[in-house]
Amino acid sequence: MDKKILIVGSLNMDMVIEMEHMPITGETVLGSTLTYIPGGKGANQACAAARLGGNVKMLGCVGKDEFGELQKKNLYDCGVDTFDIRSGTKCTGMASIYVDKHGNNSIVVVAGANQECDISYLKECDTAFQECDYVILQMEIPYESIFYAINRAKELGKTIILNPAPAPRELPDDIYSKIDYITPNEAELMTLCGGIGHTKDDFIKGAEKLLQKGVKNVLVTIGEKGALLVNADGAKVFPTRKVDSVDTTAAGDCFNGAFVVALSEGKSQKQAVIFANAASSITVTRNGAQTSIPGRKETDEVLEDWGY
Ligand code: RIB
Repeated sequence: MDKKILIVGSLNMDMVIEMEHMPITGETVLGSTLTYIPGGKGANQACAAARLGGNVKMLGCVGKDEFGELQKKNLYDCGVDTFDIRSGTKCTGMASIYVDKHGNNSIVVVAGANQECDISYLKECDTAFQECDYVILQMEIPYESIFYAINRAKELGKTIILNPAPAPRELPDDIYSKIDYITPNEAELMTLCGGIGHTKDDFIKGAEKLLQKGVKNVLVTIGEKGALLVNADGAKVFPTRKVDSVDTTAAGDCFNGAFVVALSEGKSQKQAVIFANAASSITVTRNGAQTSIPGRKETDEVLEDWGY
């Protein structure tokens, strides 16, 4: 039996607007389409991990509204254990996502019920922590809940993956050494390590700062260039496939979900990064968050065509 993955994080309804170019301050632009798509970094990672064959449970909070019901149903249909997702008193989290003609996005999140993913709720769901092998978190729920979950998971000897998105300027000092994998994109890495730069060397320097603070592995997603893994063995870039990108929304989420699934199947770090690159390279060729996440068969076919 594959190992169990627990995802603790956000669930949002994404309001996606496509446009030629992003508005600058004070500008009004015309959008071409408006679509509602299930999203939220936590839910996207859960959806990806389950579609790719993982044994996945999610903890998080939605509102007692139509969007919350839709979210839970969508994740359940993906194969996620949604039993303990809480229905809070606030509205389901919302994200307003602008996508330009190059597939680049900008996102504003209104947390709503995600704020109710609090420590008392996580304590009520302690069995989920006890029964899992991997815990994966992002940063769209209250920070104190994230740090509680990391501490609890560490106490129980679980493997911890933190996707620091959106990135804080820093984490509490005692948290770094509890993280097995931190998975920022380039911008999030720079925010976290207080650096500036766009080159591979800049990213390696940034990652090394996180290693010095105690993180065991830094896995940076570097867009169309793939991913950079930095740890005690050194730094290595894993290039990704070349594709025509239409929308990068949830590419990082799919990468994280795929990475943890591969680890849970006993694949090596290297195989897990290659699998994650393959899955997220499919995501960017489609629109939306959970609408763009591939299944296992498709991902395995892409890997085979790619020569793996
Ligand atoms: O990573 C993409 C996600 O970020 C979107 O689905 C949106 O909801 C925000 O959480």
